[in-house]
Amino acid sequence: MKLAAIGGDGIGPEVVAVAAAVLSAAAERHAIDLTLDWWDLGADRYLRDGIAITDEERDRLIRDYDAALLGALGDARVPDHAHIRDILLGLRFHADLYVNFRPCRLLVPALSPLRDPHPDTDIVFFRENTEGLYVGLGGNFKSGTTEEVAIQESLNTYRGVERIVRAAFEHAAATGRERVTLVDKANALVHEGALWRRVFAEVGGGFPQIAQDAMYVDAMAMDLVRRPECYQVVVTSNLFGDILSDLAAQVTGGLGLAPSGNINPGKWALFEPVHGSAPDIAGRGIANPLGAVGCVGLAFTHLGMHDAAADIDGCITTSIREGVTTPDLGGSATTRGVGEWMVAWLAARR
Ligand code: NAD
Ligand code: IPM
Ligand code: MN
Repeated sequence: MKLAAIGGDGIGPEVVAVAAAVLSAAAERHAIDLTLDWWDLGADRYLRDGIAITDEERDRLIRDYDAALLGALGDARVPDHAHIRDILLGLRFHADLYVNFRPCRLLVPALSPLRDPHPDTDIVFFRENTEGLYVGLGGNFKSGTTEEVAIQESLNTYRGVERIVRAAFEHAAATGRERVTLVDKANALVHEGALWRRVFAEVGGGFPQIAQDAMYVDAMAMDLVRRPECYQVVVTSNLFGDILSDLAAQVTGGLGLAPSGNINPGKWALFEPVHGSAPDIAGRGIANPLGAVGCVGLAFTHLGMHDAAADIDGCITTSIREGVTTPDLGGSATTRGVGEWMVAWLAARR
């Protein structure tokens, strides 16, 4: 198993350090031959060298590693987010990581901010990750004047929509989930809405055993708070998936807990927590590392190492149950303290 670790900015290096330690401990326990290389990418490197990632580095990252683990990117010293575009979005587009897989499961009901949370809340988001409003089509005209015009185009292709919708249905079928929900804004964004609804019906036709329905994104935002336990698999476009996955992460315990995978199925993948670089808490040793650790579990699953993935799940759930958590989850542990507890837990099971 050959992985690249990219700390990135803010709390990124803090949480990836914990994920790397947990990864090593799990690899040892499961006799996995692990190579983990650290890659120095992020705002510091961009500001130092004037380039975020070279084409050669990007190609090597994709060619020479099974997957990469990224903390987060985002730094006030790079106000135009150039390095986020080149590294994170660049890797998504270049490696064609069309599935952004974002599971949100309520591991411990007490973590939910809802008054009466349903213990079976367990949603997986299939966020389209290579199209939509993220492709950068458009531009600004008469910039900086009072006549400025800004255009941001949403790109949706049959191929792009078909493959993410199919991935969602295939995942549901493979994991025994009984319902797939399309989320869009087909009542206002009629062009892309028509394509997504047609493809959803077409692909869904091949999965008659799975219940299928569509929700408008505004109503979905409401329903993810009202009755999140009703949803199992959600498939949606790039921007809506970005927004709803933060919402669902909080409903199921907090942003610091949510992992995600940017995946080209059967090929390369980039795993990153759903959260960002959290500049408000960076450097204080209190960032929740569980989203990053969850990424290790997703990486094991992606590479077919299911026992190791199950161990990561167990480790995360037990740490929460035993109260070994950072302040965002109500505990008093440090980022590093959670990591040390996890490494010891894995070692004790050896
Ligand atoms: P954020 O996710 O960084 O933070 C939102 C809130 O959640 C903050 O209050 C933060 O303290 C808290 N939080 C986030 N992660 C946490 C953790 N692990 N433990 C405890 N608390 C946590 O979102 P933001 O403030 O909107 O963005 C900050 C920067 O990160 C921006 O530059 C943004 O572009 C970038 N960003 C990057 C990624 C990524 O690299 N994948 C994702 C989202 C945002
Ligand atoms: C995420 C992040 C990114 C996104 C940003 C940093 C561009 O919010 O991974 O969820 O919007 O995809
Ligand atoms: Mn996001």
